[in-house]
Amino acid sequence: MKIFLDTANVEDIKKYASWGIIDGVTTNPSLIAKEGANLEKRTKEISEIVDGPISAEVISTEAEGMLKEAREYVKWASNIYVKIPMTSEGLKAVKVLSAEKIDTNVTLVFSLGQALLAAKAGATVVSPFVGRLDDVSQDGMALIEEIVQAYDNYDFETEVLVASVRSPRHVLESAIIGAGIATVPPKILDELITHDLTDKGLKKFMEDWETVKDKQ
Ligand code: E4P
Repeated sequence: MKIFLDTANVEDIKKYASWGIIDGVTTNPSLIAKEGANLEKRTKEISEIVDGPISAEVISTEAEGMLKEAREYVKWASNIYVKIPMTSEGLKAVKVLSAEKIDTNVTLVFSLGQALLAAKAGATVVSPFVGRLDDVSQDGMALIEEIVQAYDNYDFETEVLVASVRSPRHVLESAIIGAGIATVPPKILDELITHDLTDKGLKKFMEDWETVKDKQ
């Protein structure tokens, strides 16, 4: 399972990349705005830190504009995935980009129907937003299960990138279901790494070591 970091914060990206467990990074206009960053500069900076796919989202809502932006974004670095919103215009753009061998991440996916159409258009990855579905009393992880199953039925090459992750449980369930990727906010990664028994166990090992460390 691949783990992407869901942030545009360079310090966080450096920190978690140094743990050796980050396979890519996702950004969106809100995450870029939160950092007050310039999209091009920040995307280039991130792509120098992480080797894997870096998602940068188009701003246009018309296919022609999306294509223009996408062709520009992929000049920024060799590892750019162009994020395209799940609309009919988005699908048109994905079809063309796929033929041009430009990787796409179809974002704002909230149903199996949308995920199927995105795969048929040739999306490299689709991003179902599990947290936002949970927020409106729908079952985000049930959607992941459906998409993984449907893609498997037809051997679609499109990968499922679980997005809008709000808890470690979302990540663990993604792994159990067999989703290819989860994009995880830094705070959730911190929650995944810690366990009280690890801290307690390490403390005890260190205390016991103190009692014998000078023994000849
Ligand atoms: C990542 O690709 C998505 O844009 C992100 O996970 C959305 O998360 P949010 O629903 O917490 O804003």
